[in-house]
Amino acid sequence: MNSVVSSHQRVLSGMRPTGRLHLGHYHGVLKNWIKLQHEYDCFFFVADWHALTTSYDNTAGINASVWEMAVDWLAAGVNPGAAKIFIQSRVPEHAELHLLLSMITPLGWLERVPTYKDQQEKLKEKDLATYGFLGYPLLQSADILIYRAGLVPVGEDQVAHVEITREVARRFNHLYGREPDFEAKAEAAVKKMGKKNAKLYHELRKRYTEQGDHEALATGRALLESQQNITLADRERLFGYLDGAGRTILPEPQALLTPASKMPGLDGQKMSKSYNNTIALRDEPKQVEQKLRTMPTDPARVRRSDAGDPAKCPVWQLHQVYSDDTVKSWVMEGCTSAGIGCLDCKQPVVDAVLNELRPIQERVVEFSNDPERVRNILAEGSEAARSVARATLDEVRQVMGLSYR
Ligand code: TRP
Ligand code: SF4
Repeated sequence: MNSVVSSHQRVLSGMRPTGRLHLGHYHGVLKNWIKLQHEYDCFFFVADWHALTTSYDNTAGINASVWEMAVDWLAAGVNPGAAKIFIQSRVPEHAELHLLLSMITPLGWLERVPTYKDQQEKLKEKDLATYGFLGYPLLQSADILIYRAGLVPVGEDQVAHVEITREVARRFNHLYGREPDFEAKAEAAVKKMGKKNAKLYHELRKRYTEQGDHEALATGRALLESQQNITLADRERLFGYLDGAGRTILPEPQALLTPASKMPGLDGQKMSKSYNNTIALRDEPKQVEQKLRTMPTDPARVRRSDAGDPAKCPVWQLHQVYSDDTVKSWVMEGCTSAGIGCLDCKQPVVDAVLNELRPIQERVVEFSNDPERVRNILAEGSEAARSVARATLDEVRQVMGLSYR
């Protein structure tokens, strides 16, 4: 990776430690991360503090959950050579930024986040009228902004949190983005681009700020994107100087919507622990086979001689994930003519799931037998994340007038 990575190329995402993962996580989130890690500068973390926002009264399981989840990530193919993998609480900078952002965040913004009321309703047995629970989307904002991440892969349910992050960043930049020596610093940064580019930049800036020429603004931004030799801070200054808005200290991230997992649960609903319809990445082959063999099929197909309708059968949804066209037409034909039995029909899915899980489970064993290695991976990831986080925080403290040097 280039040492000057623009924030547009930085990806950050986190997961609450829920312990062992299942095929829904694999097909929904992890495969997406594994693809992204080769395309972007990725930061993936275990959101252990977030677990406290709802499980503050039962913290006993968090530790084991953190390690199990980390092992499952690694076994699934999240690669510490390509992405930084770490634990949130090992990067305490998240907490300081959260505190600083809490000073500028209106209560109403947090009260209006849809998950606030929803979750309180859903988890009625818990007292979630806590300070931490209300502030949890802002903690998430700090998670994102501390790395100045440009892209945040999340599911539909988390988009509102990225949205509030954008608002918080905008407010922060508006309040603190006007350094007294902004112009001088921006002009110094312009020079660093070289004579030719500096001249072009000045021209484009003039055309936009004096004539409102949007094409010039776009060209100017592209020019900045293509600069390899300026620091992130200078780049942000130059973005702000170009459009006259002042300096962007915390860039606004974009949600990168994770396509909904097509992986159904054993009952055809979304695969989820709370529905008790999962296949865990660590389920033994026997268990997997048993779960699939006993999963429901088209309820109209009572006897082997009854024809069925794949559209009414959760097994058919699994064929959409695992089977090629030949197998799918075999199912369609065999089911609707009662030519095959449901167990025959399930067999290719059983084979495919076992094939998919085999290498993952081999790696689970490898990593579980070498906890020192897992600890090292997370320690190194946390250190690498910290150095990025510290740089942001230094600047945040400085613009807020809190650097006593
Ligand atoms: N809130 C997310 C969830 O419950 C997890 C999370 C915490 C997260 N911080 C994040 C996701 C930052 C993306 C970016 O799933
Ligand atoms: Fe479902 Fe296959 Fe049985 Fe048809 S044959 S009902 S698709 S399991």
